[in-house]
Amino acid sequence: MTNTLHYGDCLDVLRDMEDASVDLIYLDPPFNSNRDYNAFFTSPKGGESHAQITAFEDTWHWGSQAETEYADLLKNPDAGQLGETLMPALRSFLGENDMMAYLTMMASRLVEMHRVLKDTGSLYLHCDPTASHYLKIVLDGAFGPTSFKNEIVWKRTSSHSDSINKFSRIHDVIFFYSKSNKPIWNKIFIDYDDEYKKRFKYKDDKGYFTDGDLSAKGLSGGGYEYEYKGISGYWRCPVETMERLDKENRLYYTKNNGIRIKRYLEELPGVLCGDVWTDIFPINSQSQERLGYPTQKPAALLERIIRASSNPGDVVLDPFCGCGTAVHAAQKLGRKWIGIDITHLAIALISKRLRDAFPDIDFKVEGTPQDVEAARYLAEHNGLEGRYQFQYWAVSLVGGIPANDKKKGADSGSDGFIWAYDSPYAKKPYKINISVKSGKIPANHIRELGGMLGKNGVEICLLLTLEKPSRTMLKDALSYGYYEYPDGVRKFPRVQILTIQDLFDGKKPQYLDLSPDGPSTLKSAKKEVKKQKQGSLL
Ligand SMILES: C[S@@+](CC[C@H](N)C(=O)[O-])C[C@H]1O[C@@H](n2cnc3c(N)ncnc32)[C@H](O)[C@@H]1O
Repeated sequence: MTNTLHYGDCLDVLRDMEDASVDLIYLDPPFNSNRDYNAFFTSPKGGESHAQITAFEDTWHWGSQAETEYADLLKNPDAGQLGETLMPALRSFLGENDMMAYLTMMASRLVEMHRVLKDTGSLYLHCDPTASHYLKIVLDGAFGPTSFKNEIVWKRTSSHSDSINKFSRIHDVIFFYSKSNKPIWNKIFIDYDDEYKKRFKYKDDKGYFTDGDLSAKGLSGGGYEYEYKGISGYWRCPVETMERLDKENRLYYTKNNGIRIKRYLEELPGVLCGDVWTDIFPINSQSQERLGYPTQKPAALLERIIRASSNPGDVVLDPFCGCGTAVHAAQKLGRKWIGIDITHLAIALISKRLRDAFPDIDFKVEGTPQDVEAARYLAEHNGLEGRYQFQYWAVSLVGGIPANDKKKGADSGSDGFIWAYDSPYAKKPYKINISVKSGKIPANHIRELGGMLGKNGVEICLLLTLEKPSRTMLKDALSYGYYEYPDGVRKFPRVQILTIQDLFDGKKPQYLDLSPDGPSTLKSAKKEVKKQKQGSLL
């Protein structure tokens, strides 16, 4: 199951996973923040304003789903004390409210995560103070209180001006638990702070250094008494070592006739990383890494966690993977990985992110439809949510940006679009409007699409449909003629229809993007360049 992206609820995917099959889990679930998170899609140069769409909602209510998950949890033998005493105690304290619904969702998934972890495995749960106090109790229940390792405080922003009558909340909390008392652990060193670096005030051709004592005076172990280059003393090392250090240009002769050893900043490992992290900056609107997905975490944060609690070749799992920061970092650091997300927006974004960053990468995507029947299932089950997920999936198949926000409702015939340039010299891109239909196509739909042509930059309309179009529809589509490129050679049908089966058969929309920079529907991740090991110079 490794190097796989799964579309779906992580509870279902986790339940299908084998016991003790994962080395490290990082999860950054919704935090119960009671708000929606929008994904931003940048438009290419000259295009209209950026598009945004609700990526996921973070609002929880006690209802039938929470009740069912709660009942299942209490019956689950893997839940142990968490199901038997802890969750009932929380329920009696909190009542059947939003927090209890959120904690039930988290508890059922954490029990599965504990099961799939190997004995040497660890889990990092990223959250914030909205629910961290309860989540720690739930984690104690799922893992056992003695499995708690750290509460990491990550300073994620500087200051908020909107805090009334309280201090600004500027940190996230990351709980670190291990399954046994022998987890995989690699020490992490971080850079010295500027104040400490000031001590390295001398410089030679090897870099900045500070001087360390070579005198053995006052040391309990004793030393060596001899004269070196006319300076007599009681030294920490024998004369042979002194000579070697001298040859290596590691001795520092002080003005008052002393000898000290040079300690180079470059050669020191750094300070051991503690549990308060202030040296990793959040993704902001100017960040190079920013892909436009809400709550995207910085790669450096995930790289630190992965380096500390896994080794190359180990399996890293992110069950709420968003735009795939953990997956990206795992791939970069030579770990195997599994990513799960419940929205097609995320799965499409991660697939593109991985291909941009690692052009030769090989991975599987599971849970997305592989045939027309599965596509129909996606569209027809799970009500409105299913229909939107079907739209996002269909739009991603042709590399489009989704445009129909499920929170705004109303299907306007515009479910997504693609930007394309009709010439390398064009100042502005034109738009290919995408309409997605999972049911019967309304008789006037082709005319509706035709009516969009020539307005708001739309030059081509593309209909993606599960059902086959009628002959009349095909004829109607043809009647809108061709969009002709300024070179006088290229021309493409102005109204195009592709069935989902066509897409499975490898058919593609007809257009050519002549942008000098290549197509730019979603922001691209920077290509990761493998660092070559420095060979021996001699
Ligand atoms: C806070 S975001 C994760 C961001 C991620 N760490 C990153 O750097 O991009 C949470 C993600 O969890 C997903 N999600 C919410 N409920 C889920 C569930 N039950 N199963 C899987 N994914 C879920 C949401 O779609 C969203 O993408």
